[in-house]
Formats: sequence, C-alpha cells, structure tokens
Amino acid sequence: MSRIVVTGGSGRLGRTVVAGLAAAGHEVVSLDRARPIDTTPSAEGVTHVDVDLTDADAARHALAAARADAVIHLAAIAVPFSAPEDVILRTNTTLALNVLGGAAGVGIRRIVTASSPTVLGYGAPNGWLPDRFPLDETTPARPWNAYALSKLVAEQTIAMLAREVSPDIRFAAFRPCYVIAPEEWRGAPTQQGNTVAERLDDPALSAPALFNYVDARDVTGFLEALLPAMGDLPPAEVFFVGAADALARDPLAELLPRFLPGSDALAADLTGTTPAFSSAKAERMLGWSPTRSWRSELAASAPSSPASRKDVPA
Ligand SMILES: NC(=O)c1ccc[n+]([C@@H]2O[C@H](COP(=O)([O-])OP(=O)(O)OC[C@H]3O[C@@H](n4cnc5c(N)ncnc54)[C@H](O)[C@@H]3O)[C@@H](O)[C@H]2O)c1
Repeated sequence: MSRIVVTGGSGRLGRTVVAGLAAAGHEVVSLDRARPIDTTPSAEGVTHVDVDLTDADAARHALAAARADAVIHLAAIAVPFSAPEDVILRTNTTLALNVLGGAAGVGIRRIVTASSPTVLGYGAPNGWLPDRFPLDETTPARPWNAYALSKLVAEQTIAMLAREVSPDIRFAAFRPCYVIAPEEWRGAPTQQGNTVAERLDDPALSAPALFNYVDARDVTGFLEALLPAMGDLPPAEVFFVGAADALARDPLAELLPRFLPGSDALAADLTGTTPAFSSAKAERMLGWSPTRSWRSELAASAPSSPASRKDVPA
C-alpha cells in the first residue's frame, strides 16, 4: 500500500483511476480544481483537495502536504481545440512543470505523467502517413496542434527532470488511447460527445483517432503495474496504453485506406481485429496487457430492463 497523488482525479479518466487505486488498497489524494461529480464512487482512503495547479506555489504546497510516494499527473485541458491554442499550450505546459517539477522538488519518488497518442500528429491538415503500422513508441512525434505539442512537452519535461534531479526519483509517461470510462459502456457520451455504439456504427467518428481506445480500468491496471516497476526502468520511459483490438467492426486494413489516403499498403497487415497502436512495450517491460474489449464490455453493459436504462445519463 502506498500514498498516491492523482491530479485531475475528478476527470473522465481520473475518477476511475482514483477509485481503482483506492480499491486496490492505496491511499489516494486527488488534486483537482473541480469537485468530484456525484457519480464518483465513494471509496475509503480517498481525499480530495481543491487546488488550481497552474498556481506553482499552491501546487507545491498541495504536493508537499500529500506526503505521497507517487504522483500520477492527469490534470490538463484534455480536448484539442476546446480552448484557444495559446491557452491550451500555456495551461498544459504550466501544469506539467508545476506538478512534475513540484513533485520532484518535494521528494516524491515515482512521478508519472499522462501524454497522448496525438503527439504522433495523425490528422494533420497538410497530410500524415507513418513509416509503418502498428504505431509504437518508436514512431516519430510530429504534433500539429497545441494540445499534442503540450503533451510532447510533458514527455520532455520528465526527460529534463530525469537529467536534473536525484536518480532516486523516477519518471515515466504514458499515452492512453481514447479513454472509455465504465459509464460510457452503458451509454454515457464519450469524450467527443458520441456514444461508443455511435462510434462503432459510423467509422468516420473513430477514424480521427485511428480507431484507438482503451478502457479506463485497464489504464488503472497499467498504472498499478508501472509504479512498482519504475525503480528498474530507464529514466523517462514512454508507453502506449491501448486496447488489444480496434474500435471498429471491420478490419483496419479495409477502413484506414478510406480515411487515411495512401495508407493501403501500410495498413495491409492490420487484418482481423488488429489495432493501429501497439502496447507491446508495456507488455514486454511491465508484464501489462489490456483485458477489456468493446466486444465484451458493450455486451456486458447492455441494459436488460427499463429500470437499468433509467440509470444511463442522457
Ligand atoms: N480521455 C482521453 O481519451 C485521453 C486520451 C489521451 C490522453 N488523455 C490525457 O489524460 C488526462 C486525463 O484526461 P481526461 O479525459 O480524464 O480529462 P478531463 O478533462 O475529464 O479531466 C481533467 C481534469 O483535470 C482538472 N484540471 C484541469 N485544469 C486544472 C488545474 N489548473 N488545476 C487542477 N485541476 C485541473 C479538471 O478539473 C478535470 O477534472 C489528460 O492529461 C489528457 O490529456 C486523455
């Protein structure tokens, strides 16, 4: 059992991470400027602290007061173009420096930041094609908007800190694919506003993310595997964290060429349910692999009676 700070613990991913870590027996301190919403599962061992982490002094004070063994930094403006570009870049890079640097400054020894697959640059208006599929941690980062750039800066912030501070303090970053929270299997809107079923029915909705996704509880499992392993990892490793299949009913070898012109030959091996993103590095280095697929989760969450349908948020 350890004490773990989760920044952004009130958010889409943070709520599940906080609840999952607490259920696993950790003491969790959630630092967020927003209060947890009512649907947050109440868990023993969770403390919420209201704090605006763009305030460096407030962030440092909250991190010191938490007396934590580890920090998982999720707080961010999490949606590209949801604010002016300068605001996204300034906010997310300031949060990264304040939280990651602040945590190192108060001696927290395991420091993890959320990055994003978008650092790779797919969807760039002037065109994007990778050297090969599946995409992995060796695929070059070519961000084309402030959000993706801010996530690359977060990755570089831990690399910078790993060169600067005591080697006893360990850093890592992870790039979660499109996060599906448990309530979203039951019909709540996903990050882009549509339901999982709508994203499956209309491939144009999932194509901008190259059909990637991951269950939020699988992300929690990844973090549980990552934290105890960090002492033995090289500094500032980056991991993709995605489902083992694509969020699509048809093989990506057929779908990708429709939405990513020129990818026919590159995508030819993405047959069956193979996703465009590989989490093989996390499996190789941490022994972690995803356990949940839309195929099982949607079926398991299908409303069986009018009473259960009532619980699905509009
Ligand atoms: N959801 C996804 O599909 C996805 C995919 C890739 C990466 N990520 C990354 O994962 C992390 C979590 O994403 P999410 O979907 O849960 O986002 P979210 O928007 O649901 O939650 C972010 C949380 O951060 C908090 N926050 C923002 N600014 C803050 C500040 N100044 N001080 C304190 N708290 C602040 C918000 O109040 C919110 O609770 C983000 O870093 C995001 O970039 C998410």
